Amino acid sequence: MAVFGTRPEAIKMAPVVFQLQNNQNHFESILVATAQHREILDQALSLFNIKPDIDLNLMNSRQGLPALTSRVLESMETTLNNVKPDIVLVQGDTTTVFATALAAFYQKIPVAHVEAGLRSHNIYSPFPEEVSRRLTTVMTNIHFAPTPGARQELLKEGVAADRIVVTGNTVVDALVHISKQDFNFDNTSLKNIDFDRHRLILVTSHRRESWGTELQNICEAIKEIVKLYPDVIVVYPVHPNPAVRDTVNKILPGHDRIHLVEPLDYMTFVNLMKKAYLLLTDSGGLQEEAPTLKKPLLLLRETTERPEAFEAGLCKIIGTSRNRIVEETSLLLNNQEGYQAMIKADNPYGDGRAAERIVQTLINWNAGKSILLEAVEEFNPRVGKA
Ligand code: UD1
Ligand code: UDP
Repeated sequence: MAVFGTRPEAIKMAPVVFQLQNNQNHFESILVATAQHREILDQALSLFNIKPDIDLNLMNSRQGLPALTSRVLESMETTLNNVKPDIVLVQGDTTTVFATALAAFYQKIPVAHVEAGLRSHNIYSPFPEEVSRRLTTVMTNIHFAPTPGARQELLKEGVAADRIVVTGNTVVDALVHISKQDFNFDNTSLKNIDFDRHRLILVTSHRRESWGTELQNICEAIKEIVKLYPDVIVVYPVHPNPAVRDTVNKILPGHDRIHLVEPLDYMTFVNLMKKAYLLLTDSGGLQEEAPTLKKPLLLLRETTERPEAFEAGLCKIIGTSRNRIVEETSLLLNNQEGYQAMIKADNPYGDGRAAERIVQTLINWNAGKSILLEAVEEFNPRVGKA
């Protein structure tokens, strides 16, 4: 049973779903959407043409963490009872992941965790995701670590080495798959934007830690950057969360070079990232996509659980102070040498074969093999490139 609830889980689970469907001789796969997100989950699923077998339809407007956690836990308990899967797959660090793992643990059903082992070492950042991911680890039987660094984090916490497989991140598989398809902006909400004569800064921001003052600072900084640089345009697909929209819609509307748009389907968004000069974001997934697309990324957060790109110089953690955002963005707009230095290193996050490794591991596990995946088959960033 593969379970997903939010936009990034759908995008990152899609390649695994395709691999499961290609291996129907080994598996019967059941897809469950908690629908912790509604509209933007459906947007991602419809692009990949994935239809959940069970849709729990759990999203409420302005949902709080305790209520959402309880709804997922109770609904997943019933779902697991009805279906009785041999193993449950979850992806990432959302409430869907944590509550599903807990429901499976209560029924002693094995859990396989895709994107395991990412750690910021700060329980309040990202909040609540750092703790959701850590708690999921202790209930997990097979840990799919995207990078060797994530494997090290799991080993430090006492996870048995033979239960960890390094796969690469499935988002690279999704990105490679989408990038192969022809695309133009003619049928999108972006068709009238003059990309050719401007430098594009692509913005996304939705993290709980940023709600209120931090997001206000980010918006003020964007206004300032656009004022300072007449050749810059900003596109900001605004997350549907009302806590985000309340702030963005107070500060940013009414500027002809700041385009606030509805969330974009993944195909349009990937092609927009390709057009961008740089990415300003607090997203988890974008940190893994930027190095694949060779785009510099300025991270609007104080910490990251994805250190590889920072260690390679591909991204910079800049926080949420208005002045710092303006300064760091200006450095990249003014200094070509600094800009080029940020896009040199190879992608540390994957080679486009993560889902293949995950499904091969599940086949080996089902066959009772003691080695989940031969070491030579694992992702090695020094060898694989995407
Ligand atoms: C959630 C995840 C976060 C992830 C993010 C990806 C948790 C606690 N948070 O944050 O880790 O990075 O998704 O986007 O698991 N809403 C809609 N339509 C939608 C989606 C959301 O209206 O399609 C609104 C609803 O009012 C909902 C609110 O956004 O109550 C918050 O959604 P929720 O999933 O609880 O939190 P996110 O901030 O989206
Ligand atoms: N994304 C998208 N459309 C958008 C904004 C983002 O398809 O308008 C994609 C993005 O490429 C990435 C994922 O959604 O793969 C990130 O989701 P989000 O920012 O909601 O969550 P996070 O990654 O921060 O958990």
